[in-house]
Amino acid sequence: MAPMSEGNQQSIEALSAEHRMFPPPAEFAANALTNDRTLFDEAAADHEGFWARQASELVEWSRPWDTVLEWDLPYSKWFLGGQLNVSANCLDRHVAAGNGDKIAIHWEGEPGDSRDITYAEMLDEVSKFANVLTGLGVEKGDRVMVYMPMIPEAAVAMLACARIGAPHSVVFGGFSAQSLADRIDDADAKVVITADGGHRRGSVFPLKPAADEAVEKTSTIEHVVVVKRGGNEVDMVDGRDHWYHELMNGASADCPPVPHDSEDLLFLLYTSGTTGKPKGIMHTMGGYLTHTTYTHKYVFDLHPETDVFWCTADVGWITGHSYIVYGPMSNGCTQVMYEGVPNYPENDRFWEIVAKYGVTKFYTAPTAIRTFMKWGAEEPAKHDLSSLQLLGTVGEPINPEAWMWYHEHIGGGRCPIVDTWWQTETGGIMISPLPGVTTTKPGSATHPLPGVVAELVDDDANHVETGGGYLTLTKPWPGMLRGIWGDPQRYIDTYWGRFDDRYFAGDGAKIDDDGYLWVLGRVDDVMNVSGHRISTAEVESALVSHPSVAEAAVVGATDATTGQAVMAYVILRSGAADVTPEELRTHVAGEIGAIAKPKAIFITPDLPKTRSGKIMRRLLRDVAEGRNLGDTTTLADASVVDELQRRANEAP
Ligand code: WTA
Repeated sequence: MAPMSEGNQQSIEALSAEHRMFPPPAEFAANALTNDRTLFDEAAADHEGFWARQASELVEWSRPWDTVLEWDLPYSKWFLGGQLNVSANCLDRHVAAGNGDKIAIHWEGEPGDSRDITYAEMLDEVSKFANVLTGLGVEKGDRVMVYMPMIPEAAVAMLACARIGAPHSVVFGGFSAQSLADRIDDADAKVVITADGGHRRGSVFPLKPAADEAVEKTSTIEHVVVVKRGGNEVDMVDGRDHWYHELMNGASADCPPVPHDSEDLLFLLYTSGTTGKPKGIMHTMGGYLTHTTYTHKYVFDLHPETDVFWCTADVGWITGHSYIVYGPMSNGCTQVMYEGVPNYPENDRFWEIVAKYGVTKFYTAPTAIRTFMKWGAEEPAKHDLSSLQLLGTVGEPINPEAWMWYHEHIGGGRCPIVDTWWQTETGGIMISPLPGVTTTKPGSATHPLPGVVAELVDDDANHVETGGGYLTLTKPWPGMLRGIWGDPQRYIDTYWGRFDDRYFAGDGAKIDDDGYLWVLGRVDDVMNVSGHRISTAEVESALVSHPSVAEAAVVGATDATTGQAVMAYVILRSGAADVTPEELRTHVAGEIGAIAKPKAIFITPDLPKTRSGKIMRRLLRDVAEGRNLGDTTTLADASVVDELQRRANEAP
């Protein structure tokens, strides 16, 4: 584990200069679901009792639980003995309550087409598709891959899996065939649900060909279901591949929701770790649904009768799982789902959508906000954004300048901002303001939510009162991961190995004199590029899988827009001198996906190593960020660094 990097130290100092405070606006607080300390006090007095109350008030159970929490460190089980159907919580109960005609999803396609789908229609579609899956031989416990564009059928597929208790594993549509194949293999999945293609940046990107390639590389997939969206030509394999619309034509909409155990697996979601192999993070039904429903309700101060919620994430990430599919639909709110990029056809597309649907609560990533800043305040100014009441951010630290711009140019100076810290592993939001309660500071995620207990510690696990430290969680919470699929040892080593008895998230943070938390970013070898987690080891192994590459070292360098950028240093095999950095970048995109493409690749004769042979990443980061090099005396060969710097200076 690396100690706090110099970059982190520098940001600690920069952030110490931030003193602006934003109390909840009086009118907002007056109408908020909570505007005092009650929830905090209740949770502090009785952790389990607090979560039990959330579970019984916010979730519908077919059988009550016997035990709230079984905590057998590092494994937690919540609401044991309880039974529920997650899809019935997201759909049936709203229809039963007379809200069948309420819009569940205002879906906006990138080319400008749109669909409004009610809760009753969603229930029909999910029931039919659950029957389709059963008809294809999918049984409870079977894993189903979802590899889709941002279309309503992605949510339908997930909820249909949840209905029958077949865990889904959604793979972001931007990932390569190889990434999909690795996940199919690891999960031993039976079915892939995909689409011919989707719309992105004004053209159609094909998904089915990548799915075909992945299925051919693996041996467990029996059926592929294909939604027609892109209209691109695809090959259909007889007996294996089926058009979604054809299967749905003959399907019955009668599919009673069977009760599942609270601790049955709801989904796997693969995320990057410090080694080359992604981890299948396991989430179960009762705890995850309780956590996402609770956080979605209180962090976004949800008024489901009037709110129009929009989370701009892709369903391929945890944010899309928790705050497009499960949280919002369990709360029965109306939301916007958008297929494409923010700059198609023009840079104001998001603001056009906010105005078109009267979005009230908007949730996006800091990297997007920094991009909007670059495009200029005149873009949002073209539209009436007065419907907005609250703004949220997630995925990476937000710098105070971006926070202020968001506040002023999107929020019109009147909307509270919730900077939400959490992870794939935590299932839902953990550290965030409560908008009617918390006075915010630009750039700080503020405090743990009621029901969440966090603590900063130093290298020796001593409590840190103020200053920098490691962000740890000391009490179990309902949405916490239940393990890593097929690799229990890795679960223990990754999250519980660094400090005894506490979950270590992998992030460094600072706590200021007022007790506010400032999350600084990863202290391990995981990069955060545009809010996406990418492991240095994964990119390195993609690079060395190219026949011309002998060795590779990858670091995340600070980037003004994307937070971090992937920088690679590559040693070529002898006789491979004609391979270009561009070829290698394309190779990485093919191995992992375009999001992992290095921003720059430096071809070098050597890498800086210690005398014991360890690559000195700190130096590589310094070179990539153009910093003066610190101590190089531990290097086996100091001239390597001079050469690297010379090449970096020459690079365009
Ligand atoms: C980072 C995304 C600072 C952090 C929900 C974490 C953040 C990783 C914030 C998880 C935030 C997320 N402030 N950093 N508000 N939110 N992060 O699993 O480094 O894709 O460990 O989950 O994103 O990324 P993941």
